[in-house]
Amino acid sequence: MTYVRDNIEAMNAYVPGEQMPGSEVVKLNTNENPYPPSPTAIDVMRHEMLDRLRVYPDAKAGRFCEAVGNLLGFERDWVLAANGSDNLIVMIARAALGPGRTLAQPTPTFPYYKTQALVEAAELINMPCDPESFAIDVDGLLEANADVTFVANPNSPTGVTASVGELRRLAGGLDGLLVVDEAYADFAEATAVELPRDDANVIVLRTLSKGYSLAGLRLGYAVAQPPLLQQLWKTKEIYNVATLSQEIGLAAIRDQDHMKANTEMIKASRAELAEQLTRRGCRVWPSEANFLMVAVPRGGAAACGEALKRRNVLVRYFHQPASMADKLRITIGTPEQNQVLLAAWDEAGSHSEF
Ligand SMILES: Cc1ncc(COP(=O)(O)O)c(C=O)c1O
Repeated sequence: MTYVRDNIEAMNAYVPGEQMPGSEVVKLNTNENPYPPSPTAIDVMRHEMLDRLRVYPDAKAGRFCEAVGNLLGFERDWVLAANGSDNLIVMIARAALGPGRTLAQPTPTFPYYKTQALVEAAELINMPCDPESFAIDVDGLLEANADVTFVANPNSPTGVTASVGELRRLAGGLDGLLVVDEAYADFAEATAVELPRDDANVIVLRTLSKGYSLAGLRLGYAVAQPPLLQQLWKTKEIYNVATLSQEIGLAAIRDQDHMKANTEMIKASRAELAEQLTRRGCRVWPSEANFLMVAVPRGGAAACGEALKRRNVLVRYFHQPASMADKLRITIGTPEQNQVLLAAWDEAGSHSEF
């Protein structure tokens, strides 16, 4: 006896990275930002909130969307806020997927797209990345011509980025939606956020979880043409963005200097860590995100991840797809955290633990 649909019963749940609050662990497994958010964002929490929490939030998150629009050069109705970008992924799936409809994605990628395809009993089309460069297969995705094509750009867990020109070609050739998930765009060289101006089928997703150090706040937004956002709006929970999130997010978006200084530090540490791991015999893919995909010497990725964990350093190992079996995804920490990682790496290596 089951109380849920057969496809829900049959599917596996999304497995989030391990969280160990309050511990001494160096946490490099879920692509969080090691630096604090903007001090002005934190001030909002102290001063403005008491009476505002008594009443419901603005269901449209109007002031936040307006600030995002001002930043990017769009009218407010081109921006839709949500409870993290994963909330937007759910809304898109609710609106555009279902039995008999298709979701295409490069693999490897963010596993939550697949979760939503399974929830909606849609058909999932996996399009493997190039086994060497991990570039996405634009022609393959065009050929699949799915109802919804998800491209994380930069991609996770690879860190590899498709050019805006390639994404434009994809957008122009698809009959369905193209979702460009720019969770890591704040660490990247280019953005596809201009694409929706010309392409009515493109949705760009952004989050404050990474570049703005606000993963715990749960705030993301979509940029797309207003008629498309009006359709997504219908699938939204009524008050999906808490008042606190709207206000802190507004202050954070207005403090671009803080975000840029923060992401510049991460980018410098990214180059340094890539060099250090390469010296240790790893292959490191060029990353435009706040993490590195690293092939561990002698294929010992799983053992290396375990050896690091025994030394209180968490990194991410993905069993699937097979192309990830010899690799780790390592979030960029502070220079001090990266040193702890490397010291643990060297110690485990010297004990032949991987
Ligand atoms: C590619 C990608 N998209 C979306 C998300 C979810 O971000 P948010 O915290 O905004 O839900 C993540 C989280 O790690 C991610 O890697």
